[in-house]
Amino acid sequence: MVIQYDTIRPIRFDNKKLYLIDQRVLPTKKTEIEYTSSAQVAAAIKDMVVRGAPAIGITAAYAVVLAAIQRYAEDSKNWKRLIQQDIQFLAESRPTAVNLFWALNKMQTHINNLQGDPFSPLKTVADDIHQQDIEANYTMGKIGAELIVQQSAAVLTHCNAGALATGGYGTALGVIRSAYADKKIIKVYADETRPWLQGARLTAWEMLQDNIPVTLIAESAAASLMQQGKISWVIVGADRIAANGDVANKIGTYGLAILARYHRVKFMVAAPTTTIDMNITQGQDIPIEQRSSDEVLHCSEHRVAAEGAQAWNPAFDVTPANLVDAIVTEKGFIENPNTIKIASLMSGGSNKI
Ligand code: MRU
Repeated sequence: MVIQYDTIRPIRFDNKKLYLIDQRVLPTKKTEIEYTSSAQVAAAIKDMVVRGAPAIGITAAYAVVLAAIQRYAEDSKNWKRLIQQDIQFLAESRPTAVNLFWALNKMQTHINNLQGDPFSPLKTVADDIHQQDIEANYTMGKIGAELIVQQSAAVLTHCNAGALATGGYGTALGVIRSAYADKKIIKVYADETRPWLQGARLTAWEMLQDNIPVTLIAESAAASLMQQGKISWVIVGADRIAANGDVANKIGTYGLAILARYHRVKFMVAAPTTTIDMNITQGQDIPIEQRSSDEVLHCSEHRVAAEGAQAWNPAFDVTPANLVDAIVTEKGFIENPNTIKIASLMSGGSNKI
């Protein structure tokens, strides 16, 4: 399979060190930071050096490898007990993206069954998590692109659900890359995505790296764009999908879903099954990260808000399943998601194109 428009890899592990593209400084600078301890990596996740649900999960898996190297060298008899505090610290880095907990649980299961030096077997598990995420994105890209039946469609995406937010290629941007390669999409609009500007800084940068033209809008322009009939699909990723199909994603996603329904624009969520949390019955039970009010009161390091103003800064919102036209995963897609369809998808019985 030849994959086009696929040049960005935000995470790499080499010679017992983890390297992350620093997403806080893109697009002004493209630099990698080197990590040798899991505590440093937990801080990097918290500080948004790396972000995006699948990328956080992959990074945490490699952080467990770093922790295992350190703990085994420290005390080869008790390392399995000592590593628990490193895993706990990683689990506390960000609360909403379920891929983090999925990856940590997977690493823990392998740790439980290990004998001897853990480096090589754990590195293999982390590499598999990384590679399988990229493969899932290729599959989702193909499935999602098939759902776009319009000719010469224009789409709107929110935040960054691209290569930078995953192992590579992206979820929502994977669908967009694939549909662009098939010449189904001719125009990609991206929301700026205040306050972190993942759209303006990251989505715009990665689209342009792969020579896909992109048009930025302020979030407040989305309604007008849809009213003028300029959008066929809104395509977004997810941080966690509840068992009933409710979707937690970057703050602002819910508003776009309401606008899309009102204007008869289709709304697609692309996410691997590692983002579906069968232990959470409905969206209102998903923990939503609250971030510092400084992120809203400032634009980058410059204060823009009036002195004395306060800010409310939830990082995510929940879009009810009844506003979602399609959830696309690597196992297939479901339309108009609900509890029964999600359960069937997770047990392997979904629509595949
Ligand atoms: O706060 P962020 O930048 O980690 O939020 C990321 C998102 O909301 C993405 O849309 C989501 O993680 C899907 S990434 C494929």
